Amino acid sequence: MTASTFSYALEVVNLKKAFGGLAVTQNVSLSIRPGERRLIIGPNGAGKTTLFNQISGDLRPNSGSIRLFGSDITHLPPYKRAHFGLSRTYQIITLFTGDTLEHNVTLGLLGLRRARWQMWRPLSFYGNMSAEARRTLDAVGLLQLATHAISDIAYGERRRVELAMALAQQPRVLLLDEPLAGLSNTERATVKSLIASIPRQTTVIMIEHDMDTALDLAETVTLLNYGRVIVDGERDAVIADERTREVYLGT
Ligand SMILES: Nc1ncnc2c1ncn2[C@@H]1O[C@H](COP(=O)(O)OP(=O)(O)OP(=O)(O)O)[C@@H](O)[C@H]1O
Ligand SMILES: [Mg+2]
Repeated sequence: MTASTFSYALEVVNLKKAFGGLAVTQNVSLSIRPGERRLIIGPNGAGKTTLFNQISGDLRPNSGSIRLFGSDITHLPPYKRAHFGLSRTYQIITLFTGDTLEHNVTLGLLGLRRARWQMWRPLSFYGNMSAEARRTLDAVGLLQLATHAISDIAYGERRRVELAMALAQQPRVLLLDEPLAGLSNTERATVKSLIASIPRQTTVIMIEHDMDTALDLAETVTLLNYGRVIVDGERDAVIADERTREVYLGT
């Protein structure tokens, strides 16, 4: 089966999540096509990360459903979602800081870090983890730092390690939670071109506040506010929509 067999890479239907009395995801529905580049925007606290957490399985929704390439994954634990080709990065970096770049990436590849073992891969894929880890680091321009501890490298470089690890899974759906946050202009340009180079076999869903950069990468945009989808569609239409202006400018 190939990705193109399916109408949607990801379908979220009527998802709801509340923390105590606070409704953070309110009837959210999304349909994302294979290969699509979707940007998720919205003010702080809109529920963007909470939505990702439910898609990745880090959080259980109260109701609603999530399908990945036609399979219902709503009740699967995160590592089983990885079997279906889902990979993500986090808004807050989750690398082992005392460990080297190479070792972090190797653990990620082995699936020990977040149980990302992917059963559909041939065993040969796991044959030479160390070489694979080094190739992964090379792809993001960090090979020369492979034996350094994470704690010794710059923040922007750590973000690139995380992105490299997610990409090394060759995911079918990749969730990026603010990949550009806290980066300098130079690092931003590097990460932007890295994201732009992700192959079409991977569907990319990205949360990002830096619209100047993120809009260039996006084809479609979903605007969330107070846990609801306010507007969703083609990039230019969403940006031009007066509801988007209302959310951002309060006009
Ligand atoms: N585990 C939790 N327990 C209680 N409340 C939570 C929890 N996680 C998130 N929230 C609340 O849910 C709301 C949405 O949070 P979320 O992190 O999803 O926002 P966000 O859109 O990602 O914001 P930002 O742009 O600042 O990252 C916030 O009010 C937050 O305080
Ligand atoms: Mg967030």
